[in-house]
Amino acid sequence: MQKPSVRLEGLGASVFTEMDDLKRSLEKQGKNLINLSIGSPDRAPDLQIRSVLSQAVLEGDQYGYTLTRGTEEFRQVCAQWYKDRFGVILNPETEVLPLMGSQDGLAHIFLAYIDSGDLALIPDPGYPIYSAGLWLAGGKKVPMPLLKDNGFLPDISKIDPDLARQAKLMFLNYPNNPTAAVASLSFFEEVVEFAAKYDIIICHDAAYSELAFEGFKPVSFLQARGAKDIGIEFHSVSKTYNLAGARLGFVVGNSDVVGTLSQLKSNIDYGVFAPVLAAGAYALRSSQGSIKENQEAYQRRRDLLIGGCAAAGWEMPVPQGSMFIWAPVPTDQDSVTFARDLAREAGVIVVPGLAFGDYGEGFVRLAMVQDEKVLQEAILRIHRFLSQKR
Ligand SMILES: Cc1ncc(COP(=O)(O)O)c(C=O)c1O
Repeated sequence: MQKPSVRLEGLGASVFTEMDDLKRSLEKQGKNLINLSIGSPDRAPDLQIRSVLSQAVLEGDQYGYTLTRGTEEFRQVCAQWYKDRFGVILNPETEVLPLMGSQDGLAHIFLAYIDSGDLALIPDPGYPIYSAGLWLAGGKKVPMPLLKDNGFLPDISKIDPDLARQAKLMFLNYPNNPTAAVASLSFFEEVVEFAAKYDIIICHDAAYSELAFEGFKPVSFLQARGAKDIGIEFHSVSKTYNLAGARLGFVVGNSDVVGTLSQLKSNIDYGVFAPVLAAGAYALRSSQGSIKENQEAYQRRRDLLIGGCAAAGWEMPVPQGSMFIWAPVPTDQDSVTFARDLAREAGVIVVPGLAFGDYGEGFVRLAMVQDEKVLQEAILRIHRFLSQKR
């Protein structure tokens, strides 16, 4: 049998693989696990969204290819949603493109712009597809450390000008995975100035723009003056409306970049399933009540988990957005050893910070993807675990 490509061998942080293997072996031993490791929404989509999806599925004319650009209706609805939510005006013909989940665009944008040896600025810690997509395209990563002291924003002033001149893309993501940090409009304005100076395309991943707490409304990168001249923004309908398996997202912004991604994708896929586009359009046009319910549910989980862990002696910063808590390791262990022990001894699965990059060391990521009853049990287990460790 032929060997898989070298390209494939270089994929995937070994920490993720190690934690996955551990989880599987614990499951095999019959251990009851509470999984706080994956960022997959556990809540059901709004019933009306499901109803639109199911009705469309029954129609006989919904099974053709929708092609890369999707339906005009969907692109128009995305543009309207952007105007209502952020006050950003988009041309639905040239500045909006549907995606099979935002991941589709995040992975493929590298193939559209990166040749062998080209540089891209990638946050560290960061959501793994940025490094993986860059690697698959043969590019080289310039890590941008996300440090606690800088609110987990990259310090733009510290980026080496020589590397900036060579870089073609910069990735950003706020509300952030894994750190749960949020960004201000003034930060995005600084980024636009930098990108214009060095001719860098900004790719902002806004997958969690609609998951924020206590009335906080994350800004869009495209709200920054001049942003559309140099960048694009990825949105996740899958995340926002709990439709993770019904793959849907979209990318908006600079028409050249959106067009280039569209050109690449037209060689790879035949578009999103029409009923999924219809359900997404319905969701984006809806009252957005399901978003509010979602925010309230995650906020309750956040408060429960943070309060419970604090009572167990584990203090964690309170996130303003995203479905994650980025918690400092509460023992004197490294993040991998701590996560491994917590899995083996307490049956609670979290992701060691190192899995997201070297600068993730010292932290673990907890995903708030279980209901409150399960989280109560997780807190009890964490309490017991930590009292044995100390
Ligand atoms: C930061 C971030 N971006 C993008 C995605 C991909 O989401 P989807 O492809 O479902 O839109 C995820 C999923 O976990 C994520 O955490």
